[in-house]
Amino acid sequence: MSDTWELLKEECMNCTACPLAPTRTNVVFGVGDPNSSVLFVGEGPGEKEDLAGEPFVGPAGQLLDRYLEAVGLERSKVYIANMVKCRPPANRDPADSEIDCCIDFLRRQTRLISPKIIVCLGRISACRMIDKDFKVTRQHGEWFKKGNFWMMGTYHPAALLRNPNQKPDALLDFISLREKMRELGVWTGEID
Ligand code: URA
Ligand code: SF4
Repeated sequence: MSDTWELLKEECMNCTACPLAPTRTNVVFGVGDPNSSVLFVGEGPGEKEDLAGEPFVGPAGQLLDRYLEAVGLERSKVYIANMVKCRPPANRDPADSEIDCCIDFLRRQTRLISPKIIVCLGRISACRMIDKDFKVTRQHGEWFKKGNFWMMGTYHPAALLRNPNQKPDALLDFISLREKMRELGVWTGEID
Protein backbone atom coordinates (compact mmCIF):
# COMPACT_ATOMS: atom_id res chain seq x y z
CA MET A 1 0.00 0.00 0.00
CA SER A 2 1.36 3.45 -0.81
CA ASP A 3 2.03 5.87 2.01
CA THR A 4 0.01 9.07 2.48
CA TRP A 5 0.51 12.22 4.52
CA GLU A 6 -2.67 11.45 6.45
CA LEU A 7 -1.47 7.99 7.48
CA LEU A 8 2.02 9.19 8.27
CA LYS A 9 0.83 12.12 10.34
CA GLU A 10 -1.64 10.06 12.28
CA GLU A 11 0.97 7.42 13.13
CA CYS A 12 3.51 10.04 14.11
CA MET A 13 1.13 12.09 16.26
CA ASN A 14 0.17 8.96 18.20
CA CYS A 15 3.66 7.50 18.47
CA THR A 16 4.94 6.32 21.84
CA ALA A 17 7.79 4.21 20.51
CA CYS A 18 10.71 5.85 22.32
CA PRO A 19 11.47 7.29 25.77
CA LEU A 20 10.84 10.86 24.54
CA ALA A 21 7.09 10.29 24.38
CA PRO A 22 6.10 10.65 28.05
CA THR A 23 7.70 14.08 28.57
CA ARG A 24 6.55 15.80 25.39
CA THR A 25 3.74 18.33 25.21
CA ASN A 26 3.24 18.01 21.45
CA VAL A 27 4.65 15.86 18.70
CA VAL A 28 6.45 18.21 16.31
CA PHE A 29 5.74 16.60 12.97
CA GLY A 30 7.11 19.13 10.46
CA VAL A 31 5.92 22.15 8.54
CA GLY A 32 6.04 23.75 5.11
CA ASP A 33 5.32 22.98 1.50
CA PRO A 34 4.93 19.21 0.98
CA ASN A 35 5.95 19.73 -2.65
CA SER A 36 9.06 21.73 -1.82
CA SER A 37 12.31 20.93 -3.59
CA VAL A 38 14.21 21.68 -0.37
CA LEU A 39 13.97 19.83 2.94
CA PHE A 40 15.67 21.20 6.07
CA VAL A 41 16.40 18.73 8.84
CA GLY A 42 17.16 19.91 12.38
CA GLU A 43 17.82 17.92 15.48
CA GLY A 44 14.75 17.86 17.67
CA PRO A 45 12.17 20.21 19.15
CA GLY A 46 13.19 22.65 21.88
CA GLU A 47 10.90 24.13 24.50
CA LYS A 48 9.05 26.57 22.22
CA GLU A 49 8.62 23.94 19.53
CA ASP A 50 7.30 21.41 22.05
CA LEU A 51 4.71 23.94 23.23
CA ALA A 52 3.74 25.10 19.72
CA GLY A 53 3.89 21.72 17.95
CA GLU A 54 5.91 23.35 15.15
CA PRO A 55 9.63 23.10 14.37
CA PHE A 56 11.99 26.07 14.62
CA VAL A 57 9.67 28.65 16.18
CA GLY A 58 11.95 29.63 19.10
CA PRO A 59 15.07 31.84 18.97
CA ALA A 60 16.95 29.40 16.69
CA GLY A 61 13.95 29.29 14.39
CA GLN A 62 13.79 33.07 14.15
CA LEU A 63 17.41 33.07 13.07
CA LEU A 64 16.69 30.35 10.51
CA ASP A 65 13.87 32.52 9.12
CA ARG A 66 16.31 35.41 8.74
CA TYR A 67 18.72 33.27 6.72
CA LEU A 68 15.89 32.06 4.52
CA GLU A 69 14.73 35.62 3.97
CA ALA A 70 18.26 36.82 3.30
CA VAL A 71 18.41 34.62 0.20
CA GLY A 72 14.81 35.24 -0.88
CA LEU A 73 13.21 32.10 0.55
CA GLU A 74 10.52 31.74 3.17
CA ARG A 75 9.52 28.94 5.49
CA SER A 76 6.19 28.34 3.78
CA LYS A 77 8.04 27.50 0.54
CA VAL A 78 10.41 24.91 2.02
CA TYR A 79 9.79 21.94 4.30
CA ILE A 80 11.25 21.84 7.81
CA ALA A 81 11.47 18.74 9.99
CA ASN A 82 13.64 17.24 12.72
CA MET A 83 15.50 13.98 13.34
CA VAL A 84 13.27 13.31 16.35
CA LYS A 85 9.71 14.55 16.61
CA CYS A 86 9.52 14.84 20.40
CA ARG A 87 11.53 17.15 22.65
CA PRO A 88 14.52 15.66 24.43
CA PRO A 89 14.21 16.74 28.09
CA ALA A 90 16.26 19.83 28.99
CA ASN A 91 17.25 20.11 25.32
CA ARG A 92 19.82 17.34 25.55
CA ASP A 93 21.00 15.74 22.31
CA PRO A 94 18.66 12.99 21.14
CA ALA A 95 20.20 9.55 21.81
CA ASP A 96 21.18 7.41 18.83
CA SER A 97 18.58 4.89 19.94
CA GLU A 98 15.88 7.60 19.91
CA ILE A 99 16.93 8.72 16.43
CA ASP A 100 16.88 5.07 15.28
CA CYS A 101 13.37 4.79 16.61
CA CYS A 102 12.11 7.98 14.96
CA ILE A 103 13.98 8.14 11.67
CA ASP A 104 11.46 6.14 9.70
CA PHE A 105 9.03 9.07 10.03
CA LEU A 106 11.64 11.33 8.45
CA ARG A 107 12.28 8.75 5.71
CA ARG A 108 8.60 8.63 4.93
CA GLN A 109 8.35 12.43 4.92
CA THR A 110 11.33 12.54 2.57
CA ARG A 111 9.74 10.02 0.22
CA LEU A 112 6.46 11.94 0.13
CA ILE A 113 8.15 15.32 -0.41
CA SER A 114 10.70 13.93 -2.85
CA PRO A 115 13.00 16.97 -2.49
CA LYS A 116 15.95 17.65 -4.76
CA ILE A 117 17.97 19.13 -1.90
CA ILE A 118 18.33 18.24 1.78
CA VAL A 119 19.99 20.73 4.12
CA CYS A 120 21.17 19.33 7.44
CA LEU A 121 21.06 21.87 10.24
CA GLY A 122 23.87 20.96 12.60
CA ARG A 123 26.08 18.06 13.46
CA ILE A 124 23.47 15.56 14.63
CA SER A 125 21.55 15.60 11.40
CA ALA A 126 24.61 15.90 9.12
CA CYS A 127 26.37 12.98 10.82
CA ARG A 128 23.32 10.78 10.41
CA MET A 129 22.36 11.83 6.90
CA ILE A 130 25.58 12.77 5.11
CA ASP A 131 28.57 11.12 6.79
CA LYS A 132 29.03 9.75 10.29
CA ASP A 133 32.29 11.69 10.61
CA PHE A 134 30.87 14.97 9.26
CA LYS A 135 32.62 18.01 10.77
CA VAL A 136 30.45 21.11 10.51
CA THR A 137 33.29 23.61 10.92
CA ARG A 138 35.24 21.99 8.08
CA GLN A 139 32.55 20.66 5.75
CA HIS A 140 29.67 23.14 6.06
CA GLY A 141 28.48 24.29 2.66
CA GLU A 142 29.98 21.32 0.78
CA TRP A 143 27.60 19.51 -1.56
CA PHE A 144 27.23 15.73 -1.54
CA LYS A 145 25.20 13.79 -4.11
CA LYS A 146 23.48 10.89 -2.40
CA GLY A 147 21.09 8.86 -4.49
CA ASN A 148 18.52 11.29 -5.85
CA PHE A 149 19.45 14.05 -3.42
CA TRP A 150 21.92 16.87 -3.22
CA MET A 151 22.84 17.25 0.45
CA MET A 152 24.60 19.96 2.40
CA GLY A 153 25.30 20.48 6.09
CA THR A 154 25.43 23.87 7.72
CA TYR A 155 25.65 25.32 11.20
CA HIS A 156 22.72 24.75 13.50
CA PRO A 157 21.08 28.14 14.12
CA ALA A 158 21.25 27.51 17.89
CA ALA A 159 25.03 27.11 17.51
CA LEU A 160 25.13 30.42 15.63
CA LEU A 161 23.39 32.11 18.55
CA ARG A 162 26.21 30.84 20.77
CA ASN A 163 28.98 31.59 18.23
CA PRO A 164 27.97 34.66 16.21
CA ASN A 165 31.41 34.75 14.54
CA GLN A 166 30.22 31.82 12.40
CA LYS A 167 27.25 33.74 11.01
CA PRO A 168 28.99 35.02 7.84
CA ASP A 169 29.94 31.43 6.92
CA ALA A 170 26.37 30.30 7.48
CA LEU A 171 25.11 33.05 5.17
CA LEU A 172 27.47 31.82 2.46
CA ASP A 173 25.96 28.33 2.86
CA PHE A 174 22.48 29.74 2.27
CA ILE A 175 23.74 31.63 -0.78
CA SER A 176 25.21 28.34 -2.01
CA LEU A 177 21.79 26.75 -1.47
CA ARG A 178 20.24 29.40 -3.70
CA GLU A 179 22.88 28.72 -6.36
CA LYS A 180 22.22 24.98 -6.18
CA MET A 181 18.48 25.57 -6.53
CA ARG A 182 19.09 27.70 -9.61
CA GLU A 183 21.47 25.12 -11.05
CA LEU A 184 18.83 22.42 -10.60
CA GLY A 185 16.09 24.66 -12.03
CA VAL A 186 14.04 24.63 -8.83
CA TRP A 187 14.51 28.22 -7.68
CA THR A 188 11.20 29.64 -6.48
CA GLY A 189 12.41 32.51 -4.36
CA GLU A 190 12.07 36.18 -4.94
CA ILE A 191 15.56 37.58 -5.30
CA ASP A 192 17.33 36.96 -8.62
N1 URA B 1 16.36 23.06 17.14
C1 URA B 1 16.11 22.03 16.32
O1 URA B 1 17.00 21.27 15.96
N2 URA B 1 14.87 21.87 15.88
C2 URA B 1 13.87 22.68 16.23
O2 URA B 1 12.78 22.44 15.76
C3 URA B 1 14.15 23.76 17.08
C4 URA B 1 15.40 23.93 17.54
FE1 SF4 C 1 7.85 8.37 18.44
FE2 SF4 C 1 9.78 9.86 17.40
FE3 SF4 C 1 8.36 10.82 19.40
FE4 SF4 C 1 10.08 8.87 19.85
S1 SF4 C 1 10.57 10.94 19.17
S2 SF4 C 1 7.96 8.95 20.60
S3 SF4 C 1 9.93 7.67 17.94
S4 SF4 C 1 7.59 10.33 17.36
